Amino acid sequence: MILSNLTLMAMTGAAPPLPDAAIVMQGDRIVWAGARTALPAEYHKGDHIDLGGRLVTPGLIDCHTHVVFGGNRATEFEMRLEGASYEDIARGGGGIMSTVTATRATSEEALIEQALPRVDAMIAEGVTLLEIKSGYGLDQETELRMLRAARAVAEHRPIRICTSFLGAHALPPEYAENADAYIDEVCIPTLQAAHAEGLVDAVDGFCENIAFDTTQIARVFDAAHALDLPIKLHAEQLSHQGGTALAAAHGALSADHLEYATEKDAKAMAAADMVAVILPGAFYTLRERQKPPVETFRAMGVPMAISTDCNPGSSPMTSLLLAMNMACTLFRMTPAEALAGVTCHAAQALGQSNAGKIATGCHADLAIWDVTHPAELAYHIGFNPLHARVFGGQLEGPGA
Ligand code: NIG
Ligand code: FE
Repeated sequence: MILSNLTLMAMTGAAPPLPDAAIVMQGDRIVWAGARTALPAEYHKGDHIDLGGRLVTPGLIDCHTHVVFGGNRATEFEMRLEGASYEDIARGGGGIMSTVTATRATSEEALIEQALPRVDAMIAEGVTLLEIKSGYGLDQETELRMLRAARAVAEHRPIRICTSFLGAHALPPEYAENADAYIDEVCIPTLQAAHAEGLVDAVDGFCENIAFDTTQIARVFDAAHALDLPIKLHAEQLSHQGGTALAAAHGALSADHLEYATEKDAKAMAAADMVAVILPGAFYTLRERQKPPVETFRAMGVPMAISTDCNPGSSPMTSLLLAMNMACTLFRMTPAEALAGVTCHAAQALGQSNAGKIATGCHADLAIWDVTHPAELAYHIGFNPLHARVFGGQLEGPGA
């Protein structure tokens, strides 16, 4: 299939949009992309689809989500508006634990069914690759069920799924005051069981005063290394705990949230070739005031990804386009950085070298937009300019 008369945003470098471009796909891979005048002769005869000058970007990547969960936390939303803090609610047994209770009571089929409308909202905005975390089970049975449900999403919808095991998300009441035992007796054995079932692409944790400390997270990272799994971490979200430095020392793909990260953390991330995953939906929902050090990341060359962090508590948000807008308006990222944040840098945060750019050998996953300039993607609020998606070489939507 040959797409032509398009404006190409390949995300392979810092190049501006290339007008009058073409993309050639064979099966589910991209075999050629560039200026139409340079199209190799062998492709001149193929089936050309005229995109009327539309902007084409890689399919978007939401690289940090908790989209599989039971129940919702609208009541806590009301409580926070009345003055309770996220930490207060968590310490009172609500927060993540309230979603754990709901998730434990939800079957695999129901978890899938409840996740799909959220996934559909993401697909409607051009998302073609989605990361989904466990972490609302905190026992072996439910963690495995969440991961199976996450994998099953790709059987129900045209989307690629990467899973992250997040057993170290919160301490369940049956291990109250005994976080070390939880890590050793539940978290690590469950990770091993999930890995044996092929359910884990990466290992994540929550390093925070309401979750786990660096020593406990280090044990989870060691277990991940033993299984040859990449790692990432929720770090410095509500306070500075040293998770970023720990993640850097362990060769993590990314550190995520980072509101309280320091210049030293940013330096460690740059040296370790890590991605900073910026999550403006959680910042906004929790009415946080401390902003992630975006300028420092930029100055030090730390690639920044942007994600919805879609979850029932701190970021009940499915719009990656809105996350891009918020990253620009709240954190002063540029629209160009925002686009890189949901394409090439999001792919890097997931360790997926064949996604997030339009280049020979990459997945033929594209988003076709009714816009003329890429800045328009981050500019709108609550408006979706997606024209069509290409997933695995298949054109969807108008013109398909
Ligand atoms: O990324 N920070 C920890 N985990 C989630 C929140 C989960 C929840 O509140 O349910 C986050 O913000
Ligand atoms: Fe998260």
